[in-house]
Formats: sequence, structure tokens, C-alpha cells
Amino acid sequence: MAETIFEAGDHKVYLFTDLVTGEGIQSNQLFIVNGSHSALFDPGGNLTYQPLNMAISKVSSIKALDYVIATHQDPDIIPSLDKWLMYTDAKVLVSKLWERFLPHLIPAFMIEKVQGRIVGIPDKGARIKFGDSNIIALPAHFLHSVGNLHFYDPVGKILFSGDVGASLVDKDHDKPVDDFEAHVENMEGFHKRYMGSNKVCRLWASMIRELDVEIMVPQHGRLFQGKAMVENFLQWFEQLECGIDLVDQSDYRVPKRK
Ligand SMILES: [Fe+2]
Ligand SMILES: [Fe+2]
Repeated sequence: MAETIFEAGDHKVYLFTDLVTGEGIQSNQLFIVNGSHSALFDPGGNLTYQPLNMAISKVSSIKALDYVIATHQDPDIIPSLDKWLMYTDAKVLVSKLWERFLPHLIPAFMIEKVQGRIVGIPDKGARIKFGDSNIIALPAHFLHSVGNLHFYDPVGKILFSGDVGASLVDKDHDKPVDDFEAHVENMEGFHKRYMGSNKVCRLWASMIRELDVEIMVPQHGRLFQGKAMVENFLQWFEQLECGIDLVDQSDYRVPKRK
């Protein structure tokens, strides 16, 4: 079911939190409409294609989709690429590091037909024309993918932060975080293992503070609502040791014979 998280005039932002069923990790998909234009973020794979398509159809025309936008290349992000290319006229936007890899997800008979529709975003990010506004693609490399982007909607003041801020919670995925301290345990293990290093956490947090963020939506788990809650996250994240900060020789050993 679509939840409207922002609405002003003909600019609307919808969040889907409950479309993955079965074994797949719970994932959030963001959908933004600006007048007759629309953009979909991290649509996921085959588990979500059908329910997402139906949920979007209730609030907008699938044919009118301008962009399918991927934060990175993971299996929970974009394997439904072939279907979005086949059944819509949307362009697919992704880090330029993954632009040449994504055609591996497309059947051979479609390759020629979709030429020019997978567009690589440069490492430094971009401002993407979207209706009478922009979507700002922000560098988020090594958080966690080597070619990783987050996306900011300046109208709704919404940051879609991909796997950054993700939490693993059993229920109430559609509820904002209310007690940050209590929520840390839902995020900590994931971020320590999946994020690159404290250096990139700090660089990213400093960039995010240049923006006016009212809502931060991660790709998994609960969103962060209000400037104070977003700042709670930034302060936690910029001091987090993670990824290569935490490894030593004991993590790189040839497994012993039994
Ligand atoms: Fe990921
Ligand atoms: Fe993810």
C-alpha cells in the first residue's frame, strides 16, 4: 500500500514498505510524482515488480514514468530492470560504474531496443531535471557499494539514502523512528559489516548537512522524520567504525582442514 509522505500542489512522494513477501529482505521503494512526471527509486527484483506495478498504477500512470533510479547494483535494488524497460518508457539511472554491468540483467533480444535508456551518473553526482524541479544525485560511494548514489528531492526535502540508515526490524516498517537510542541496535550490525569505513561515513555526513533534510528514507526499515532525528543519525554515523576499520589479519586466514 502506498503511504503519502509528502504532498504540496502537484508534487507528491509515496513510500511502499510492505511489498516484499517471503524470504526477501524487507525493502522500501520511493516513488515521486511531479505534475505529469514521475520517478521510482530502488524498485527491487521479481519479488516486488508485480505488487509495485499495481501499487503505482493506483496513484499514477506507469507509462508516464520518467526515471527508474538505482542507488547501486544489488539484488534487492534493480534486477527487475528488464520489466521496467519493457513495459515503460523510463530511463534507468545508475552510477556510471554499473552502467555497463546492468545489461547482464536484460535478455539478448531486448538489448538493441533499450539502447540509450540506461544512463550512467558520474562519480560526483548530478542534478537531474525532473518536471519543474530537480532530483539531486549525491555521491555515496563505499556506502556500501563502490559506485553508490543517494538522491535528494528538494521540494519534499526528502533524502533517499539507500542502505545507509537501513534497519532490520520485524514490524512497523512504515512507522518513523521514535526512540533513536533504542533503534541503534536495529542498525548497528548491518552498518558495521556493510559500510566501507569511518572516513566515508564522515565525508558523507558532512555533505548531507549542507542540505535541508526533513525526512531520510533508507531502503530497509524505518524512516527518520524531522531535522532533529536526521541529525541524531548523522552524529551516530559519523563516529561509527565499520568495514575496513574493523578488520585485521584474523579475518583473512585460509580456512583450516577439519
Ligand atoms: Fe546494498
Ligand atoms: Fe539494500
